[in-house]
Amino acid sequence: MTSDQPVGTDPAARVDELRRLVEHHNHRYHVLDDPEISDADYDALVRELRDMEDAHPELASTTSPTQTVGAPPSPLFAPAPHRLPMMSLDNAFSFEELVAWGKRMERIISGEVTFACELKIDGLAISILYENGRYTRAATRGDGVTGEDVTANVATVGVIPERLDLDRRSCPAVLEVRGELYMPLSAFEELNRRQAEAGGRLFANPRNSAAGSLRQKDPKITASRELSFWAYQLGAREGGPRFARHSESLDFLRQAGLPVNPEVKVLANLDEVFAFSGAWEQHRHDLDYEIDGVVVKVDELHHQQELGFTARAPRWALAYKFPPEERSTKLLDIMVSIGKSGKATPFAKLEPVLVGGSTVGLATLHNEDQVALKDVRPGDTVMVRKAGDVIPEVVGPVLSSRPKGLRAWRFPDTCPACGRPLSRLEGESDTFCTNAECPAQRVQRIAHFASRAGMDIEGLGEQRVTLFVELGLLEDAGDIYGLTAEPLLGLEGFGHQSVANLLGAIEESKRRPLDRLLVALSIRHLGDTGSVALARALGHLDRIIAASPEELAAVDGVGPKIAASVHQFLALPANRVVIDKLRAAGVNLEGPATPSVPQNLAGQSVVVTGTLEGWSREEAEAAIKARGGKAPGSVSKRTTAVVLGEAPGASKLSQAQELGIPTLDEAAFAHLLETGELPS
Ligand code: IVH
Repeated sequence: MTSDQPVGTDPAARVDELRRLVEHHNHRYHVLDDPEISDADYDALVRELRDMEDAHPELASTTSPTQTVGAPPSPLFAPAPHRLPMMSLDNAFSFEELVAWGKRMERIISGEVTFACELKIDGLAISILYENGRYTRAATRGDGVTGEDVTANVATVGVIPERLDLDRRSCPAVLEVRGELYMPLSAFEELNRRQAEAGGRLFANPRNSAAGSLRQKDPKITASRELSFWAYQLGAREGGPRFARHSESLDFLRQAGLPVNPEVKVLANLDEVFAFSGAWEQHRHDLDYEIDGVVVKVDELHHQQELGFTARAPRWALAYKFPPEERSTKLLDIMVSIGKSGKATPFAKLEPVLVGGSTVGLATLHNEDQVALKDVRPGDTVMVRKAGDVIPEVVGPVLSSRPKGLRAWRFPDTCPACGRPLSRLEGESDTFCTNAECPAQRVQRIAHFASRAGMDIEGLGEQRVTLFVELGLLEDAGDIYGLTAEPLLGLEGFGHQSVANLLGAIEESKRRPLDRLLVALSIRHLGDTGSVALARALGHLDRIIAASPEELAAVDGVGPKIAASVHQFLALPANRVVIDKLRAAGVNLEGPATPSVPQNLAGQSVVVTGTLEGWSREEAEAAIKARGGKAPGSVSKRTTAVVLGEAPGASKLSQAQELGIPTLDEAAFAHLLETGELPS
C-alpha cells in the first residue's frame, strides 16, 4: 500500500483512501512494530484526513482513525481492558498551532493557567497497575479501551519497581501509572551491532526495537534487551493523597520510586513553552534516548477537569512536535565515489526530501557490507535520516513498497573514474581504487590539500579543482603554486578580481605551519594530533623525510602504524615530486607547528557547551588542547570545569551541578586559558 496521492477530485473517495492508508499504517506501527513510512509522513496523512473531514462534515464518521486511538490489540496477547481509556495526544507543528490551542482553551476555562512541559519520549505507551503498592499488571495501549497484557514482559524492565516505596498511609489501594517504555540509544546501537555480527535483521530505530523487544511471546527475550521507562501520567486511582496539580502527581510518582524524567518544567505562558521546546530541539541529541517533541499539559487539575476530552485526546494536553529527522523517499540510484586515498564509498542518490532541517538528495551508504546488510536497491522507497550535525543516512528499505523484480545492487568491480579494477582486502570492509593516477583521487587529494582542514586556500574548492584538473592545469597539489592568471582569465566565473583573490590566497597559504602542510598531504592514518607532534618533535619536513620508521614512532603521539604510513608516503617518488614543487615555490617546510603556548591546562579536563561569542566550539576546544588539556564531549567526575555558552546542553549543565563542578562564563574561560587557574 503505497499510494498517498489524491485519487481524482472526489472528496469522499479521497477520505476513504486516506482512512484505509492511516489504518494500514496504524497496523504496521502498533501491531507489527514495523512501520513503512516515517512519523512525519504519517502525520501528514492524518492531517490531510482531518482537514478533509473538517471541510466536509457530511463525511464525518466515529470510526474514522481521526476519532480512534492506536490499533486493535493483537490476539498474540491476552486482552487487558483499561480502567480508564488510554488516549492519544493532538499535535502542533508550529507556534501558531500552539497559540491556537491556547485560544481554544481560553474559551472554556478562566483564571490562571500554567503549563507542565515534558519531553515527548519516542517509545511506546504502557500502563502499569500497582495494587496496594505491588506490581500486578502491565498493558500496552492497544485501541485505548483494551490493551495487550504484557505483565511478564514489563516485569523484566529493571527500572520499574516491583513494590512502591510508599508507607501504608500514602499508598493508594490502586495506582495506575502511565508512561513511555523506550530503549536507550546506547543500548539500541549495541543491539544493532550484535544483530549485525550475527547477520540478523537490523532495527530501524530505537522506538521499533523497544516495541519489538517488549511485544514478545517469550519474556526471556524482553529480559535480554535493555529497556527503560519514564512515568509521565497518573491513570486510575483508588485512595492515596489528593493533588491540585499534575506536577505534584509527578513528584509523588518520583517519591514512590518510579523513574520520572528530570527535565519537567512548569512554565507561565506559551512563549516560555516555545522557548523550552526550541532549547530541547537544539539539545535533543545530548540525551541517551530519542525525543520527537515536547508535551505540554495544563498543570492545574481543576482546569484539566473543565477541559475534558475529545473522542481521542485530552483538550488539556498537546504534543508540540519537532521538525522530522526521518522521511521516506525514492532511492534513484546507488553510486560510488572515490576519496583522496582511493577509498570507494557507495552513496545513495535520492529524490530530494526535507529532513533534519535541510533538503537531502545524497546520503552515504558507508561500504559494500552496509549496502548488503540494509539490502537497499535502486528503485526502492527508503527511510532517510538526518539527525543534528550527523551526515544523512539511509536507514533501510520499505520492503512492502518494493516493486516486483527489483534486483539487488552489486558493488562495481572497476573504478567509476579510471576504470581500473577495485580491490578489497580480506578482513577489511573498505574497497579501494589502487591506481595512484586515478583522476578522481587526484581531484580529492588536491581539494583536500586546499581545504580548510589543510592549507586553507579560499576559493579553491572541489568544483574548481575538478575544472583545473580537467583543463590539465593541475596534476598534483604542488601545481597549485605554479598557477598563473593567464589561463584562468576568461574561464567562466573568473574575472580579474576573482583570479587575483585566488592567487592571493594561494600565496598566503605558503606560510601555513608545518603541521597544516602534513595534514594537507593526505597521509593515511596521520591526523591533526600526529601532525602537530611530528612538526614539534622534528621541526622540519626534511628531518621527517630523513627519519626512520623507528625514529618517527618514538615521537610522543605517533604510533608505529602512523610512523610506517608517513615513512612509506614520503619515500614514494610521486610524493617527492610534489614536495619538490612545494619547496621550489617557497612553501614553509619548517616547524614548530604552532606558536608555543604554556601548557597550563596539562592534566585538566574542560568541557565546552553552548555557543560562545568569541570562539567557535572547535576553536575553544583547540585552545584547551593546545594548552595540554583535554576537551571531552561529556561531563564526568574528572571534569575540571564546564564552560557555558548561550543555550548550553541541559544534561551537561545538570551533570555539572549534580557533581559540583565549577561552571565558567566566557570571561572566566579566557582567564582559565591565560593563567590555567579557575577564577576565585
Ligand atoms: S501524556 C492523555 N506525556 O506520545 C495523555 N505522552 O503522541 C497521554 N508520549 O500516547 C499522554 N512522552 O505514548 C504523555 N511526556 C509524555 C509523553 C507522552 C511521550 C507519547 C505517548 C502518547 C503519545 C502521543
